[in-house]
Amino acid sequence: MTTKKSNHQAEWWRRSVVYQVYPRSFNDTTGSGVGDIRGLTKKLDYLKDLGTDIVWLQPVYNSPQNDNGYDVADYRSIDPMYGTMEDFDELMAELKARDMHLMLDIVVNHSSTEHMWFQESRKSKDNPYRDYYIWRDPAPGGGVPNNWQSKFGGSAWQYDEATGQYFLTLFDKTQADLNWENETVRQEAADLMRFWADKGVDGFRMDVINLISKDQDFPDDDGSIMTGDGRRYYTDGPRVHEYIKELYERVYGPYDLVTVGEMSSTTLQHCIRYSNPEEREFSMTFNFHHLKVDYPQGKKWELMPYDFEALKGLLSSWQIGMNEGGGWNALFWNNHDQPRALSRFADDGRCRVASAKMLATTLHGLQGTPYVFQGEEIGMPNPNWNDISEFRDVESTNMYRIMVEMGKTPEEAFEIIAKRSRDNARTPMQWNYGPQAGFTDGTPWIKLDERYPEINVKMQREDPDSVFSHYKNLIALRKTEDVLTDGRYIRLDEGHPQVFAYARTNDRDTLVVVSNFTSEEAAFTLPETHAALGHSQLELLSGNRPEVPTWGDQLELEPYASFMWIIRG
Ligand code: GLC
Repeated sequence: MTTKKSNHQAEWWRRSVVYQVYPRSFNDTTGSGVGDIRGLTKKLDYLKDLGTDIVWLQPVYNSPQNDNGYDVADYRSIDPMYGTMEDFDELMAELKARDMHLMLDIVVNHSSTEHMWFQESRKSKDNPYRDYYIWRDPAPGGGVPNNWQSKFGGSAWQYDEATGQYFLTLFDKTQADLNWENETVRQEAADLMRFWADKGVDGFRMDVINLISKDQDFPDDDGSIMTGDGRRYYTDGPRVHEYIKELYERVYGPYDLVTVGEMSSTTLQHCIRYSNPEEREFSMTFNFHHLKVDYPQGKKWELMPYDFEALKGLLSSWQIGMNEGGGWNALFWNNHDQPRALSRFADDGRCRVASAKMLATTLHGLQGTPYVFQGEEIGMPNPNWNDISEFRDVESTNMYRIMVEMGKTPEEAFEIIAKRSRDNARTPMQWNYGPQAGFTDGTPWIKLDERYPEINVKMQREDPDSVFSHYKNLIALRKTEDVLTDGRYIRLDEGHPQVFAYARTNDRDTLVVVSNFTSEEAAFTLPETHAALGHSQLELLSGNRPEVPTWGDQLELEPYASFMWIIRG
């Protein structure tokens, strides 16, 4: 127990907060309508003011941009759309000057089909690069090698005329899966990461990294477990831990990097292995189970109100399970692949401000490293979509077409896309109430949410009651309150229909977080053990309503009220 605790204090990133930058939509300095690296550099003082320690910068490498940069054509370059390598070096220097760290997004499950490796690979079966990718003959009777589906819709296999074989693409048809069975590919991946580590990068966010090891029999999926799309044969696959340990030996360990793995459809048991320091794999993991609680039977492209009990249950079981197994969670509500949590789990209308703060307090009280996705810190909601032509994302436009082909009316399909699309998170950052919200002097690549005159950084930065100030306070607490880092999690609400309540305890302090997730008032009874604690030194660390409930057996909570107290030992 003592060694684990001292590790928690020693590993600096356990007390850090990461800010995620989607550069395309962050800040444009050229008038192109697309954000750029210099735009980010200009906003570093803002990020520092918020309390950011680590910036996660999403892919800025050369790319045809079919999946907004997650289709990399050259891993050692900067896409001219985003600027130059000098701009990147300047960003690094400016970050270091502010004692901030950079985490780069590394996409090595697949590359763009425009990458030189793939261009060579497709030329002939005996090309030296052939084995960099996953090529298979057509099925005996012709057609695709198996029934695996792309995550963006349709078959995961693309036929290539030149050699009469299919190549695997788990995402867009221009994102060819790399063949990690090939030792040379693994060396290449380590080399390209060393290139960036040599430039002074402090860490990596590893894109869909738990998909790199495929079952080499490539069996058809009979649909008996999971979704039937083939994922059971490549998710947390047979050699994945071996490959990640190898990356640790080759790169993460020697450069002492902070790493987070994006784990698609994973399990708690695997995430413990991925993130327990003794395993020498990653620093921490993202999992998405808590963001599927509004998917009926796991189906992303169908709507239902979210299941509050499931949300609490999942967050709780990961808190307890990761702690017991010595793993470490990356905590998040939002990212560039998710609709805004504010619109999904709370009220983005009349109670928007209280809701945004409530979600923040709930998440920032948990154990793990919190991530803030751009715009979250000012309470940006999903935009108001008017027409399908406003969407830019390849997944959204594919799924719209497929849903209509499958018999949904255009109106039904639009309603689903408007709620589920990744573009909800990708509208431009709202800096001020001037033209284009201060994001660009040109025409933004994707529409702005028209509520920017009321929701923007300029209005919130100096306002002590703003969502921004609330985040700033929560982020600062992570530095001063050890219990946020090492406290054991205990759930306090027993299936309360409106309230999520939990405590965190170390050998000194107890922290209590109580949040009302509904638009109705709520009464919550504290367990006796915790109600009694209030007689000692009780201090309110964070709240979002002027009416602070009186500590006692029963707490009365206004709609979306959320409070964090500490009882110092
Ligand atoms: C990850 C990224 C997502 C991308 C996909 C394929 O899930 O976050 O944006 O489309 O991987 O690279």
